Amino acid sequence: MEHKKKISVAIDGPSGAGKSTLARAAAKELGLLYVDTGAIYRTVTLYVLRRGAEPKDAAAVAALLPEAGITMDYDPSGLQRMYLNGEDVTDQIRSQEVSMAASSAASHPAVRAFLLEMQRDMAKRRSVVMDGRDIGTVVLPEADVKIFLTASSEARARRRWLELQQRGVSGDFDQLLRETRERDENDMNRAAAPLRPAADAITLDTTEINFQESLARLIEIIRERTGL
Ligand code: DC
Repeated sequence: MEHKKKISVAIDGPSGAGKSTLARAAAKELGLLYVDTGAIYRTVTLYVLRRGAEPKDAAAVAALLPEAGITMDYDPSGLQRMYLNGEDVTDQIRSQEVSMAASSAASHPAVRAFLLEMQRDMAKRRSVVMDGRDIGTVVLPEADVKIFLTASSEARARRRWLELQQRGVSGDFDQLLRETRERDENDMNRAAAPLRPAADAITLDTTEINFQESLARLIEIIRERTGL
């Protein structure tokens, strides 16, 4: 059987830079599978919280990993659904509590090792656009294209504020900005697989450009590098 070469696109960057929305839209346009790795870390984190463990406690979190059955699939509309020991937790993992705790839980080497093969496996089987923090540096160092998608912390907090507003939830901008910076701090300064651009990553800064412009640029970069 003929095997077409699998294409992999790695998109890394800080939280709130629009990675998942942009990566999903680009994947759809290019006919690639979108893999949201943050959702996988969030699912582990939800398990840790449910079990009443402290997400910062490396030993406590590591001890729970063998019991956390993490699986995923895609619904007919292409949305990635996450399961925790068989339960669909796709919506639960989006809470602010999980967001904050995930950045602690994801800092433990045991957690990262636990999820590494699962992520690599997906890219072996399918052509993917995978987003996360260490995709270009650790998970898929041989990716065909690596993009570091970023925006200023103010722009990211403002977008989050608007997003909440649209959902009818009133957010406090200063608090959102503090939380954005706190998560950056955690993600960039941890010892295990910190958030940083791969040496061969192309940086796309969306501070001054809107969603459509960002998407057009992202697709252009991927097409240039892959010939898609
Ligand atoms: O992208 P996100 O906000 O859903 O990610 C949730 C947390 O998981 C975030 O704090 C960083 C962490 N994460 C990570 O460390 N490595 C990844 N590849 C993806 C996410």
